[in-house]
Amino acid sequence: MKNTLYIEGGYPLHGQVRISGAKNAALVLIAASIMAEGETILDNVPRIRDVEVLVQLLEDLGVKVGWNEDGSLSICPPAKLKTRTSYELSKKLRASNLLLGALLGSQSEAQVSMPGGCDIGSRPMDLHIKGVQALGAEVDLEYGYINARVTKPSGGRVYLDFPSVGATENIMMMAAKTPGQTVIENAAKEPEIVDLANFLNSMGARIRGAGTDVIRIEGVSTLKAGRYAIIPDRIEAGTYMVAAAITGGEILVENVIPTHLHPIIAKLQETGTRVEEVKQGVLVRAVRPINPVDIKTLPYPGFPTDMQSQMMALLCYAQGSSIIVENVFENRFQVVDELKRMGARIKVEGHTAVVEGGTRLCGAKVRATDLRAGAALVLAALAAEGETEIEEAGHIFRGYENIEEKLKNLGAKIR
Ligand code: EPZ
Repeated sequence: MKNTLYIEGGYPLHGQVRISGAKNAALVLIAASIMAEGETILDNVPRIRDVEVLVQLLEDLGVKVGWNEDGSLSICPPAKLKTRTSYELSKKLRASNLLLGALLGSQSEAQVSMPGGCDIGSRPMDLHIKGVQALGAEVDLEYGYINARVTKPSGGRVYLDFPSVGATENIMMMAAKTPGQTVIENAAKEPEIVDLANFLNSMGARIRGAGTDVIRIEGVSTLKAGRYAIIPDRIEAGTYMVAAAITGGEILVENVIPTHLHPIIAKLQETGTRVEEVKQGVLVRAVRPINPVDIKTLPYPGFPTDMQSQMMALLCYAQGSSIIVENVFENRFQVVDELKRMGARIKVEGHTAVVEGGTRLCGAKVRATDLRAGAALVLAALAAEGETEIEEAGHIFRGYENIEEKLKNLGAKIR
């Protein structure tokens, strides 16, 4: 994705930033809305590239989608939908795989292209497939497509070897309209899972236990469209919290749900950063020196993998060495090579990175390899000496609404 960001570092950020709707809730709720009868209206949908691509995918299936004056998104699916997703569009967006469950639940068939082997790992679909098969789907793979159809749908029991967010979501969506009782064990517990359950229940679904290890779903025959507001983005919030810490500034991060941020708040406080929950949100004040900390990424409520790269940038400035273990994805240290161009001293051994602190990063020409690596490079550039040029910044615009404007409002020198 072409786009280059130029950032002049060394300016502490001050002020307040309003957090947008959660990318990873918006994507699954937009997918789920094709199962509803009538017009779904979603509030707080972030205007980001991933959302734009998913909207195009839905339109390609015959769904009427439009942005309203008030910024909300309207989704009107026809009774009969095309069930084969566009290969070209699906390659741009991993979350296209969430149409598997939504299409099986509403159309009893789906041809969804295998999501592109992403930069952060192989992104397999085995748990998704095991899940929909447990509900009666027959699945075969050909030409990069997952072809699934269900003739005798019936609720089933699924044990997820790994609490996969996407697999949990696909099974929940299919089960919502599959007759009988479905039980998902070792389910993902992320806030976005709870948001999906609340959204589906607001349409008449019968889902209990979202946010715990065991989710029970009683299938219903129809889901009635309605209006729903998406939760704020806990990862965007965490990214701006780190921006305050790394630049030596103070930022009020508004429109957040503090409980969703607890793993991030706790870790930031370990670095010595002052984090206070206030009425409007979370107030973050940088403290010097920054303490080194050890991080293990884990499924929620553990420390989020989506904040790993951002913390790595911060820990380059810590007084001492930090150890980061990435337990969720198999290849999520791509940002290390780019940070090293800026002077970072980081050693990677398998799933473990040792960040030697005490470095003063210098601006350089770097490349965003994926969304959160790009975010980490923005953070490093904001604190580095001189100008940093970030190529392929399109990755960043996939998941951060108005990032340039939000950072400028906080005093960043960015273009
Ligand atoms: C979701 O991806 C998020 N994306 C990711 O956010 C997030 O990092 C991830 O959950 C973990 O929290 C969206 O919600 C759109 P997983 P997902 O299935 O569902 C393995 C971002 O930056 N696995 O929980 O793809 C897989 O290989 C993105 O916003 C299987 O083995 O994540 C990985 O190692 C990046 N088999 C682990 O589970 C499967 O069938 C976690 O994957 C599925 C997954």
